[in-house]
Amino acid sequence: MSQRTLVLLKPDCVRRKLTGEVIARIERKAGWTISALELRTLDRDTLAQHYAEHEGRDFYEPLMGFMSSGPVVAMVVEGERVIPGVRALAGPTDPISAAPGSIRGDFGTITRENLIHASDSEESAEREIKIFFPGLA
Ligand code: TYD
Ligand code: MG
Repeated sequence: MSQRTLVLLKPDCVRRKLTGEVIARIERKAGWTISALELRTLDRDTLAQHYAEHEGRDFYEPLMGFMSSGPVVAMVVEGERVIPGVRALAGPTDPISAAPGSIRGDFGTITRENLIHASDSEESAEREIKIFFPGLA
């Protein structure tokens, strides 16, 4: 089943010059295509929309600060089962629990600075793509 997903390479990923490494892992998957890509610094309004489900949690304000601390690479990736696929490449939220071979397992430090965001469902993907790439059909 072909899907599309919203991927963010977070400010730690850009600062540590790991974007090429992470994009290469995505591109290596047969049948996946990057169909939109932009380097941009996120404002609070965009982040509040993106992380609306987490508003009020204890990690929310530090997360907003971190996510606006430098540019991110925002991408839309399309292809076969790409939503669970990129989540699997990323590994679980907490890098300590993430297996070696996963992006967060190989490069993550603390839960907040875990390199990559990837949509968790078709509904999230469509909602998030509209936030970052409103011009995409
Ligand atoms: P979440 O949507 O639960 O994780 P994921 O990115 O794996 O979908 O949380 C969003 C981000 O919030 C997560 O990537 C890092 C940050 N976060 C914390 O800093 N502390 C926490 O305890 C949790 C759950 C998330
Ligand atoms: Mg999430």
